[in-house]
Order: sequence, then structure tokens, then C-alpha cells
Amino acid sequence: MNEEQKLADFEARIERGEIIEPKDWMPERYRRQLIRMMSQHAHSEYVGMLPEGNWITRAPSLRRKMVLLAKVQDEAGHGLYIYSATETLGIDRKELLDQLLNGTAKYSSIFNYPSLSWADMGTIGWFVDGAAIVNQTMLAKSSYGPYARAMIRICKEENFHKKQGYEIITTLANGTAEQKKMAQDAVNRWWWPSLMMFGPTDKESPNSAELMKWKVKIKSNDELRQRFVDLTVPQAKAVNLTLPDPDLKLNEETGHWEFGHINWQEFYNVIKGNGPMNKERLKARNEAFEKGKWVREAALAYAKKHNN
Ligand code: 3HC
Repeated sequence: MNEEQKLADFEARIERGEIIEPKDWMPERYRRQLIRMMSQHAHSEYVGMLPEGNWITRAPSLRRKMVLLAKVQDEAGHGLYIYSATETLGIDRKELLDQLLNGTAKYSSIFNYPSLSWADMGTIGWFVDGAAIVNQTMLAKSSYGPYARAMIRICKEENFHKKQGYEIITTLANGTAEQKKMAQDAVNRWWWPSLMMFGPTDKESPNSAELMKWKVKIKSNDELRQRFVDLTVPQAKAVNLTLPDPDLKLNEETGHWEFGHINWQEFYNVIKGNGPMNKERLKARNEAFEKGKWVREAALAYAKKHNN
């Protein structure tokens, strides 16, 4: 078959809902798009450990510390999982990590905001992992096998992440006036950046059309954002916290919660590297990579000695 026939055959497979595996023929664009999206997802997991890692030693009880520790360890595992899935596309993990550490690769905008109080651990679990669940349950049906399978395992753990976050928020919202104020402050700071996690509007998104044509994404950025809002508004009401959007209104006809204007200038500013914590996040990741050099060297030396 010539390239044209191979592409037609590939797209017929996608149409039939078949799963594409690493050894199958795929258009170079499909491969490049997957590497872009999956590596940024893995980077997000890896950088995403930092805001929460900051609070492990400050957790208010041994139980909270154990739960947060388990969650942060899960995120590390999610990163490794998705880096491995990305490597099935023929790119080396070292190259991916270099792209993260030299600032050329993106990771989720949400992790460039500071975690200022213990209540942030609640809103990160509730909003950020809640948004990740909406996104990742869709990606579990992606046309690329290794990515879809990685998502199935990850989504099981994300549900625990969201539940522990919402439990923290519920405890604080039902606590002292000071605790309730801390929870409301965290909700005010994390709500809009969480909506930005889903990416630009469908009209503005340069990648969505192609990703949806090849069923890498089967729902659009706006559809997923709307689902997240519809799920989260009742949860905020249930704990008497106010989402910082005066335009939030239930459309009785569609059943959707309509929401106000997202500050896209802030979004593009953050993904260009000018968010509140971008520099700190990259510095922390570069320092950790440097400090871990001896471990990599020891493992390589051991492998060399014992594999000859
Ligand atoms: N943060 C950073 N960059 C973003 C972004 C965000 N929230 N949303 C979009 N962008 C970037 C895209 O990467 C793209 O830039 P690029 O072409 O240089 O890569 C540009 O903005 C235009 O966006 P598009 O909508 O065209 O890009 P996508 O179609 O790739 O959609 C996405 C963006 C929704 C993030 C999609 O890539 C995706 O679903 N990725 C997989 C899921 C993921 O990465 N989630 C991140 C959170 S992980 C997490 O929350 C961990 C949890 O355990 C806490």
C-alpha cells in the first residue's frame, strides 16, 4: 500500500473504533501529537507533586500526613506510567525529561499556582483531581492502546485523590469560622485556574480537531470543562462554600451550569512561563534532577557490572 492507502486504512480502523498499538502503522502526525500530549501529561504528574509535597511535613494529623503521602506517591507513579506509555512511540525518556527541565515542554498550568494553606490540599484534591478524572475517564477511551490502558489504572487512584480532598474541605467548611474562611479562600484561588486546566475554548484550540478526528480525544475541551462545572457546583453547595463566579446560573433547559468569562490572558501568560510559580517549579525539578545524579550513576554502574 502507498502512504495514501495506509492513511485511508488507518482512518478506517479509527472509524471502526479499533485500538492502535505501538507496532501498528500510524501517520507521523498521530505519533507526534501523542508524544506532545502524553509527555505533557507525564510532566504534569511529575511537577504536580510539588504543590502538595510542600504540605506533607505540615499536615495537621498523622492520618492526613499518611493520606497526602500516599497521594503524592501515586502522582509519581502516574508520571512513570505515562512516560513509559510515551516511550512506546519511539522517544527516549531522557529526551522528554530534558525538554521539561530546559523549559521547552509544557505541563499543566494548574501547577504554577502556590499552595498557601492546608485548605489548598483540599481544593487540589477536589478541583484538580476532580478535573483530571473528567479528562482522564475520557482519555481511557483513546484510540492509542498504551495511553488508554494507563488511564484506566490512573483513574482508579484519582477517585481516592478527589475523595480525600473533598473530605479535607468538608471538615474545614464545617469547622471553626477560621477554618471555614481558610476553605473559602482556597476555593476562591483554585476555581478559575481549575477551569483553565481543560485548555482553550474549542474555537481557539489548534490541536483538538485533529486529536478528535483520530479519537485521541473523544470529547472537546469545552465539553469536559462543562461536565466538571456541572459536577462541582452541587458539591460546593453541599458544603456551603461559594464558587467565585457571580455569573454561575443553572440553565433549567439544558441542565448545565452556565459560568462567567475565563481570564484567557492569565491562562496564556501562565503557559508561556509567567505564572506565579513557574520559575520555582522548574528550579525545584532541575535541583532534584541534579541531586539524583549519583543514584542514576550508581544504578548504571551496577547494571554495567552485572550485565556483562
Ligand atoms: N496547561 C498547559 N498547557 C496547556 C493547557 C494547560 N492546562 N491547556 C492547553 N495547553 C496548551 C497545549 O499543550 C497546546 O500547546 P502545545 O501545542 O504547545 O502543546 C496549547 O495550549 C493549545 O491547547 P490545545 O487545546 O490545542 O491542546 P490539547 O488539544 O493538547 O488540549 C489538554 C490540552 C486538554 C491539556 C490536553 O492536552 C490533554 O487532555 N492532555 C492530557 C491530560 C493532561 O495533560 N492533564 C494535565 C493535568 S494532569 C493532572 O491533573 C494530574 C492529577 O493527578 C492531579
